[in-house]
Amino acid sequence: MIQIAPVLNVSTEIAVHWQATVAASLAGDLPDEAPPTAEQVQAQLCAAGLDSRRLFWLATTADGAVVGVAGLRLFTSAGQSHLAELELHVHPDHRRAGTGSRLLAAATSAAQAEQRRSLLTLSADGKPGDSFCTARGFRRVLTLDHLLLNVAQADDGEADTDRSGYELASWTGTVPEELADAFAVAKNAMNDMPIGDMDYGSQSWTPDRVRAMAQVLADRGDRLLTIAALSKGEMAGFTELVIRSGADRRAVQYDTAVVPAHRGHGLGLWVKAAMVRRLRAEHPSVVEVETDNAQDNTHMLAVNHQLGFRFHRRTHEYQLDLPTT
Ligand SMILES: CC(C)(COP(=O)(O)OP(=O)(O)OC[C@H]1O[C@@H](n2cnc3c(N)ncnc32)[C@H](O)[C@@H]1OP(=O)(O)O)[C@@H](O)C(=O)NCCC(=O)NCCS
Repeated sequence: MIQIAPVLNVSTEIAVHWQATVAASLAGDLPDEAPPTAEQVQAQLCAAGLDSRRLFWLATTADGAVVGVAGLRLFTSAGQSHLAELELHVHPDHRRAGTGSRLLAAATSAAQAEQRRSLLTLSADGKPGDSFCTARGFRRVLTLDHLLLNVAQADDGEADTDRSGYELASWTGTVPEELADAFAVAKNAMNDMPIGDMDYGSQSWTPDRVRAMAQVLADRGDRLLTIAALSKGEMAGFTELVIRSGADRRAVQYDTAVVPAHRGHGLGLWVKAAMVRRLRAEHPSVVEVETDNAQDNTHMLAVNHQLGFRFHRRTHEYQLDLPTT
């Protein structure tokens, strides 16, 4: 008999079981993807997120073995207070026995008790998560293409182009004080990114919030690299990349945006090519970069293909609309 119970205190032992369950789940479905490290899981379970808090559940057998995990991220900022994000994994040896459904029921009840109307989760294309989400009433709201860039083979030639009227700025971690206001304005340009039918709300960036995001990453031991294009005191565009703690072979692309008034000047490609050059010079351990783009984000996909990113795999965002009381 499987027990479903909330996690009230995250111990090191629970983090170890969580990591092992996620690793087994991924090994079954996506054997070529590196599972999260123990340190990453510990940070995910214990460190505060940006404008969000988390609830966790474990599924255990009668003798205490963990066979499933569920995490619910509850957003707390005004633009996203309707939203919860679900992570759910059941060990491959224990699937099709109703454990995933019971973990989902626990998470759904908690989300409803928190007045959420929208529950989002991610599934790899063509894998059991797809069938599960469909069977449990989720709608597919966005398809994401994940691309990989081989850093050694990338075309960073655009970094040499002279973009008259623009200059590059580059930093690690928290944005320099004198750029914080301009950076917050530019981050808000992400709000018009294509997100399909997803009920994702909006994020409002302020200088304090961009500093808070950098702090969340620093607390996890991750390194955040940013390159921005500046024009007469404004930030015209930027790109962010994260090298996760203990996983520096594959870096992860975070936001890239060009503010509307500066679009059409090749700035997206310019800042991203400069980032490739920076990686080669400063972080030779990074062999590849992963990014994901909505399938209809044609501009970003074109920029990425020009740099040398190639299709890697596909995922889908699923949304469950929760009745509100
Ligand atoms: C998705 C996942 C959590 C399902 O866990 P589970 O314990 O097997 O789920 P359940 O037994 O409750 O399945 C409920 C229903 O989903 C559907 N389903 C689940 N897995 C399926 C599969 N491999 N093929 C077809 N249908 C499937 C079935 O309708 C099933 O009911 P049935 O067994 O009576 O036919 C598990 O496969 C998993 O960990 N996948 C990897 C992580 C993931 O993709 N998470 C994102 C989705 S939330």
